[in-house]
Amino acid sequence: MDTPDHPDSHRRKLYGRRKGPKLSARQAGLRQTLLGELAYTPGPDPLSQFPNSVQEVWLEVGFGAGEHLVWQAAQHPQVGLIGAEPYQMGMAKLLTKLEEIQLNNVRLYEGDGSEIIQALPDASLGRFFLLFPDPWPKTRHHKRRFLQMEMLDSLARVLKPGAELRFATDDKSYLPYALERLMAHPGFEWLAQGPADWKSRPADWPPTRYETKAIRGLPTFLRFARRAKIAA
Ligand SMILES: C[S@@+](CC[C@H](N)C(=O)[O-])C[C@H]1O[C@@H](n2cnc3c(N)ncnc32)[C@H](O)[C@@H]1O
Repeated sequence: MDTPDHPDSHRRKLYGRRKGPKLSARQAGLRQTLLGELAYTPGPDPLSQFPNSVQEVWLEVGFGAGEHLVWQAAQHPQVGLIGAEPYQMGMAKLLTKLEEIQLNNVRLYEGDGSEIIQALPDASLGRFFLLFPDPWPKTRHHKRRFLQMEMLDSLARVLKPGAELRFATDDKSYLPYALERLMAHPGFEWLAQGPADWKSRPADWPPTRYETKAIRGLPTFLRFARRAKIAA
């Protein structure tokens, strides 16, 4: 049901695939062992789920096969990276990488990223990534997109003042859909100075697997900041 406050409001449900091709014996084994060790439990004290060396927590929703998550975790050992991905094969691919690279600042949730966000306390997240989310291009499916006004309310609540929200898409209709909402939301300001800022990735933003496949068209990269103060 839509509400006047939240025109995008809808009953939350996880859309998309959980299961795909059968996992290999090694992948299935890693889900039992390594995912058990690195599992993130949605809750009010995210820092407590990381080693003491971790000083702040970032979240990536829909990490796919996890290349971007691994890069960020390796570059920022003082940051705890939480990754959410319900697709089992994506999780299995990331677990295979983590078995080789061994990063102690990654925690993983095989499910809906919004469950993590809803459980976080206010101003607890240092950065949020939503990179090439499922585009749901048909108009009647737009309500299934992850980035909704009510999700932006939640993200404005959990992001620290000044914290970045990074979004990328190559879908021609998701881009205006996301921009319209981000620009209208009082909690966020666009950090772009000019076209170069949304046409190319900054140096600390490696390409994802999906981006490399260039599936739908040219990608756009958005960096927004959580405003220090939100006007009433
Ligand atoms: C198009 S893929 C992009 C994957 C990756 N970010 C990349 O760029 O390669 C979108 C991913 O988002 C995941 N996803 C969809 N809804 C999600 C949700 N509510 N929480 C977490 N992940 C989600 C899907 O399973 C899928 O793997």
